[in-house]
Amino acid sequence: MQDTLMNKDEFSPKCVLVTGGAGFIGSNFIRYVLANSDDIRVINVDCLTYAGNLENLADIAEDKRYLFVKRDICETDEIIEVCRENGVDCIVHFAAESHVDRSITGPGEFIRTNVQGTLSMLQVARAAGDLRFLQVGTDEVYGTLGETGLFTEQTPLDPHSPYSASKASADHLVSAFGTTYGLPVLITRCSNNYGPYQFPEKMVPLMINNARHDKPLPVYGKGDNVRDWLYVEDHCSAIWTVLRNGEDGRVYNIGGNSEKQNIEVVRAILRHLDKKEDLITYVKDRPGHDFRYAIDASRIHTELGWEPSISFEDGLAKTIEWYLNNPTWLDHVVSGAYQKYYNEMYAGR
Ligand code: NAD
Ligand code: TYD
Repeated sequence: MQDTLMNKDEFSPKCVLVTGGAGFIGSNFIRYVLANSDDIRVINVDCLTYAGNLENLADIAEDKRYLFVKRDICETDEIIEVCRENGVDCIVHFAAESHVDRSITGPGEFIRTNVQGTLSMLQVARAAGDLRFLQVGTDEVYGTLGETGLFTEQTPLDPHSPYSASKASADHLVSAFGTTYGLPVLITRCSNNYGPYQFPEKMVPLMINNARHDKPLPVYGKGDNVRDWLYVEDHCSAIWTVLRNGEDGRVYNIGGNSEKQNIEVVRAILRHLDKKEDLITYVKDRPGHDFRYAIDASRIHTELGWEPSISFEDGLAKTIEWYLNNPTWLDHVVSGAYQKYYNEMYAGR
């Protein structure tokens, strides 16, 4: 990946193919694009795993600018056809297995979707006419930090979990397609997101859901691990900025400048819900648990003028309100398979 900035005209997408658009960030991104443009079309390719949910898009399902295509990202030829038929001019690649704990108990699916699936989508991009390709990456590829320091785009990749290893592999493939075939690629690496429509396997919605039902809040280890939290809409605006203004072949870190220990986040959720702290239960730590993530986002700030607009306090309040106002959505996603997952992951922990 190059390290110098070159001037480039803004890219103006006409038809964006989003993979994984029925998931948490993808659905927020589709809503963001449709709300912030008049005539851009969005095609959502998603195979609807346990994490994919069309209820996340119910409010825009009838929008004439939007089309849902149920496909697995490994179905290369079929997705090339979708691109050709619809005049797709860029791909924003979200689809992934995204949960660290699941990658520890079952890494195989992470390799298939995150590595093989990314290769497939890169082949789609080439075959459909060298489409602009934005890889939605994670800061977890950099590994872990101690008490001090920040991840920059120059930090060497040092993934620790099967999830982050699969995402690092995907980033390398994306970069290689840029270098080898001249595909116009971009990589973003973002910190932890929170906000509406997040599946309650991730910490923030899991804690909100448990607190809502007065169930124990399972904090791993001592609760002193640190994450840099970013409200999902700010992540969407950053991706949209990079897609249009980013420099081909470049990596952009995205962060909220909002470091919190897990226990601070859990306490804030309890305070907001007016619940007692005795719901907090310290449980066995995650194997290989990264201690701290923190992002230096100065490149996207200075080169592209992006910065987060929502503070952690406001974002968390909005998020909790959203979950409280959408009990039907939450009740649907925590029924059935989720209960089995929860029991297997947390029973006896
Ligand atoms: P998610 O788990 O909520 O959604 C993933 C979506 O991908 C689902 O709709 C699922 O059905 C779909 N999908 C999975 N496998 C597929 C396949 N083989 N074919 C087609 N669709 C498939 O994930 P998320 O939290 O929205 O994350 C989206 C992306 O952002 C991921 O690439 C993730 O690595 C990255 N990311 C997430 C965070 C975060 O905090 N959640 C932070 C930084 C980067
Ligand atoms: P998570 O939301 O899974 O995101 P990631 O592991 O990708 O950062 O977890 C965020 C932090 O919260 C992480 O340090 C692990 C911790 N955690 C808990 O303490 N308890 C839980 O039940 C979960 C899911 C996470």
